[in-house]
Amino acid sequence: MEPIRWNENELILLDQRELPNKICYVTCNNVSDVYNAIKKMIVRGAPAIGVTAAYGLVLAIKDYKQDKKESELEHLKKAAKMLASSRPTAINLKWALSKMIFKAENCASDNLIDLLLNEAISIHNSDLEGNYKMGGIGAKMISPNSSVITHCNAGALATSGYGTALGVLRKASQDGNIEKIYVTETRPWLQGSRLTASELIYDKLSVTIVVDSAAGYLMSSEHIDWVIVGADRVTMNGDVINKIGTYNLAIIAKKHSVKFMVVAPTSTIDLAMESGSDVSIEHRDEEEIKYFNNQLIAPKNASAFNPVFDVTPNSLIDVLVTEKGAILRPNDQKIRHLMLGSNI
Ligand code: MRU
Repeated sequence: MEPIRWNENELILLDQRELPNKICYVTCNNVSDVYNAIKKMIVRGAPAIGVTAAYGLVLAIKDYKQDKKESELEHLKKAAKMLASSRPTAINLKWALSKMIFKAENCASDNLIDLLLNEAISIHNSDLEGNYKMGGIGAKMISPNSSVITHCNAGALATSGYGTALGVLRKASQDGNIEKIYVTETRPWLQGSRLTASELIYDKLSVTIVVDSAAGYLMSSEHIDWVIVGADRVTMNGDVINKIGTYNLAIIAKKHSVKFMVVAPTSTIDLAMESGSDVSIEHRDEEEIKYFNNQLIAPKNASAFNPVFDVTPNSLIDVLVTEKGAILRPNDQKIRHLMLGSNI
């Protein structure tokens, strides 16, 4: 399952809206195509949209016309601003765009296209490398016969391949330590039942789907060792912003002494954000809740509240796994030390 592929002059994305029923691809030839692909959830998952946006800037610079009044850099910055607005919560998007702009600003070569393409490929490859590292680090904490709940999709489809939370589950399964993996459906886009379950089935791993609201009963009636999720942003104090419903799972996990692991690359850590309450949470169209498969499933005039992420406070998190190492009970001091190598 390869969600993102650069092919000569175009970006090919697996259309995740169609899974698991159809495997089809969307081709992006310019930056507007990339903006729409991210906004419309053709590609989703924090690291995957970061990588996609990086390639989006390669397409943007290819479209630059010499006769324009703006410079190449101005043209790129305008494209980056547009891409950054496609989804506001996942920090990997802005992180990847900033890396690309930094490269362009500090470019000694005249061949900006090649330079930016190499940078996008490097972001893509290092994300994949980080996934494998996190898989190894996280899996070491999983004891034999563990049962785990995961939420949304933090797998190969949400990254450059392999996954964050699913990377840990893949490695722990390979080590023979996983008894059962429960996947929450993840309303309204069903990333859990459509995407995570597909990835686990594809790898011939354990998978049992539950509706989101079954989490309390599941943790009170079955033996569950861990809840393992990804993140869209981690703030400096260790608060975690992830798919709506993550906070519910963390509260229920605490109540039932189930350990809670967050797996995210350091590109998901927002050095500029002190705590989760400062983060802008994406709200999407209420139609996503009121319609299912184009069919109205609620009174037409009912209003719906559709925040797509929530904030899990650091006090509910047992471990944060990054490619640079794991932090037990993350807090400001520990994250500062991991990111900046200092306690100041
Ligand atoms: O709305 P989505 O599908 O983009 O949300 C994805 C998530 O919330 C993931 O858990 C998160 O991005 C981490 S993916 C490695």
